[in-house]
Amino acid sequence: MNYFERKKIKEILAEQKSEKDVIVLGWVRTKRVSKNVAFIEINDGSTLKNLQIVVDLDKNSEFDLSKVTTGSSIRVKGDLIDSPAQGQSVELSPISIDVIGEASEDFPLQKKRHSVEFLREIGHLRPRTNLFGVINRFRNKMAYAVHSFFQERGFQYIHTPIITTNDAEGAGACFQVTTLDLQKLPIKDGIIDYSTDFFGTSANLSVSGQLEAEILALSLGDVYTFGPTFRAENSNTTRHLSEFWMIEPEMAFAELPEDIKVAESFIKYLFNYALNNASEEMEFFNKFLDNTRISTLESIVKSSFEVVTYTKAVEILQNSNHKFDYSVSWGMDLQSEHERYLTENYFKKPIVVVDYPKDIKAFYMKQNDDGKTVAAMDVLVPQIGEIIGGSQREDRYDLLKETMRAKHIPFEGDNSLWWYLELRKNGSVPHSGFGLGFARVLMYMSGVNNVRDIIPFPRTPKNARF
Ligand code: 4AD
Ligand code: MG
Repeated sequence: MNYFERKKIKEILAEQKSEKDVIVLGWVRTKRVSKNVAFIEINDGSTLKNLQIVVDLDKNSEFDLSKVTTGSSIRVKGDLIDSPAQGQSVELSPISIDVIGEASEDFPLQKKRHSVEFLREIGHLRPRTNLFGVINRFRNKMAYAVHSFFQERGFQYIHTPIITTNDAEGAGACFQVTTLDLQKLPIKDGIIDYSTDFFGTSANLSVSGQLEAEILALSLGDVYTFGPTFRAENSNTTRHLSEFWMIEPEMAFAELPEDIKVAESFIKYLFNYALNNASEEMEFFNKFLDNTRISTLESIVKSSFEVVTYTKAVEILQNSNHKFDYSVSWGMDLQSEHERYLTENYFKKPIVVVDYPKDIKAFYMKQNDDGKTVAAMDVLVPQIGEIIGGSQREDRYDLLKETMRAKHIPFEGDNSLWWYLELRKNGSVPHSGFGLGFARVLMYMSGVNNVRDIIPFPRTPKNARF
């Protein structure tokens, strides 16, 4: 069978012109026979829209369409002609139709609506639905936009390790990486002897590329990572994945205000990109998931982000007369209900909360002069809550060492963070960065309300299928 010289449906529908001897490859979405005409809708994944194949069964009695069923894959050769039907400019009048792969009778994606819960059970087929096709194409476009943003600004794309020996956030939520035989662990003096393990020490999947990104920022200037990160926290929510993609820029010679500025322009760039370059996807989301998505993104692109200190945010919450499950006091971490109140009820837009208490933030954040807070910034949005977490980094050797000691972050020994501390000894400079959760920002932009649906293969507690 000749697969060459096929034309993708996206291109066909964009060109809207008649053409002879076109080859189309794809999967049958539906087949309908009315009188002596068969209508076959084919989709090849290049676009949301299907191409209609119209078969005149009187004139083409040689066609065997019995195996051309929903879910089968076919190769069609034919002529593109002007379509008399509404909603499409061209249709395909076939010369030959060959079945490449048949579909079984119980192929689950028949023409009816399926719940997203059901579709999660068939992760191997769900990308063939309209919704998941759109989501995957949207991810692709937005990943491209992430790179465009940074490349246009002279940031260099760096690769930080996936296997590391540190817990960058110091939160202890790491997946261990080992080749030790779990049935026969080598025990020495009552504890596991990792010297016989693959790396000669205990290792884990990275929770963040930040610490290594700092090394490269302090040599290349402005850098960014865009890679998978792993968290073993047992958070079974609609916003937490155990494996998620994070974008982490790190900038030398930058303090918190610049960090905020870059975060704001980054988010606006992504929204603007989607409005201009992913209109098929945005219109789909707006129509089927949330009819405020397009107008919301449009208005955010034009607005400026509100920056509010943690202390002020706490005051707003305390003065709100709103009944929260967790009552608010200075020093506590903001719960999702608090973040939602601030973004949805009070400010009614994305906000940047800065200067959090040092006790609830990671060891690497720069201490403010008040001695109580750090130069942290979280970007919060309605519905989702935190989409960005970032900070200016502590660049003063003594202060960093003191905090690492206080927070029990090891900095002595070969596999400790000695090098992180030492970076502050030689050519230390003010530097800042942040992490944007790719899944979170896509959820916000699309209106997809469960993180399990925004990534093709979600990993969550008790689930690593497909
Ligand atoms: O706030 P986090 O933990 O910050 C860091 O990892 C820093 N090292 C980033 C930096 O400064 N370079 O995570 C950053 C973002 C969060 O705001 C959120 O959007 C996303 O990553 N995120 C998750 N997304 C999905 N599932 C999870 N379990 C996530 N945890 C964090
Ligand atoms: Mg955070």
